[in-house]
Amino acid sequence: MEGKKSPGGAASPALAGGGDGGGDGGGDGGDSRACVSDHKYNSLSQFLSRSFTITTVPFYLSKFIETLSHTQDKAKKNKNKMSKYNKLQGTRVLVIGGTSGIGYAVAEAALESGATVYVSSSSQAKVDAAVARLREHAEVVQREPLAADGRACDLGNVAAAEANLVSLLGWATDGRSSLLDHVVFTAGDALDRTPLGEATGEGILAGFHVRVVAAVLLAKLLPQFAARSNRTSYTLTGGSLTARPAPGLGLVTGIGAAVEGYARGLAVDLRPIRVNVVQAGAVRTPLLGDNPEVLARFARDTITGTVGRPEEIAEAYLYLMKDSFITAAVIESSGGRTVGASQEVSEFN
Ligand SMILES: NC(=O)c1ccc[n+]([C@@H]2O[C@H](COP(=O)([O-])OP(=O)(O)OC[C@H]3O[C@@H](n4cnc5c(N)ncnc54)[C@H](OP(=O)(O)O)[C@@H]3O)[C@@H](O)[C@H]2O)c1
Repeated sequence: MEGKKSPGGAASPALAGGGDGGGDGGGDGGDSRACVSDHKYNSLSQFLSRSFTITTVPFYLSKFIETLSHTQDKAKKNKNKMSKYNKLQGTRVLVIGGTSGIGYAVAEAALESGATVYVSSSSQAKVDAAVARLREHAEVVQREPLAADGRACDLGNVAAAEANLVSLLGWATDGRSSLLDHVVFTAGDALDRTPLGEATGEGILAGFHVRVVAAVLLAKLLPQFAARSNRTSYTLTGGSLTARPAPGLGLVTGIGAAVEGYARGLAVDLRPIRVNVVQAGAVRTPLLGDNPEVLARFARDTITGTVGRPEEIAEAYLYLMKDSFITAAVIESSGGRTVGASQEVSEFN
């Protein structure tokens, strides 16, 4: 049996093979049915699939485009699903004290999580070094180098601290045109280990300048420079000594307690901006030093039997930034030191 001819004279395999009987059964080898088939086929692709050989190309092409756009739609949907927990993506994070130790790790972690990070501390040289390291890390995790920047801001002088903070916050927000999503305060100068018997009023107050007074002044300024939302956070830093004091460190213990008390009050005053504290145990940073005997003593003083690493405790800060339901809270990353020590645990093992 001879296939029906197309207008161009080519035989259609579909028509030649009988197809699905899509024709009306009548006709005399006519031509018009093969040409325009609005009534006979539900879609153009159906028509093409039943049409001439030459039209099988557009058919596959249309199928390909259909599949591609379906895949793209799916990818878009999946991207939205992924971003459900990728909460730091595209945020603006300022870490005061972010040039060293815990603060540096927080900045690095935030950068890795898709945030643009700004670090600050009193020394411009330390800021420059930290920014250079962060930009190197940015390259490793395939971020733009400009996703990290820094600027010096000395908080040691109570009289100048507020003006210094205003200048820093103005810079980190491009003159308040891009508000901050998260601010982390890890700045802390050398701890005063003066025994209680030798304490002076001035010495006691000096211990509060950076960790407490500057942190509270920053809270005062925050509503002008941070987004007014419960997705915005301010995270302070305390220490596990507050929960479990150690002999001879009574003065230091009080500083951490003040930080925790202020954080609760500030969480109420700054709402909806959330305010929380990370209570740090012994973490291996320049502040702690690298004396092996001292480090071993700190390690024995925990249930984990370890000294913390900055990249471990950084997760606590990340969590406090991401959970928009947590405020006025203190979370502890201290190897369980407030509960026990590794020696005690090993006795039961
Ligand atoms: N590491 C621990 O074991 C541990 C335990 C409990 C609590 N903490 C607390 O955690 C916080 C961070 O400690 P860390 O161990 O990460 O210490 P770190 O490595 O010494 O970092 C401290 C940061 O604070 C900055 N800083 C110091 N004085 C400043 C000032 N006057 N103005 C502005 N920034 C200043 C430092 O940079 P510049 O020198 O450039 O100013 C540095 O960036 C501190 O409050 C500390 O007391 C630490």
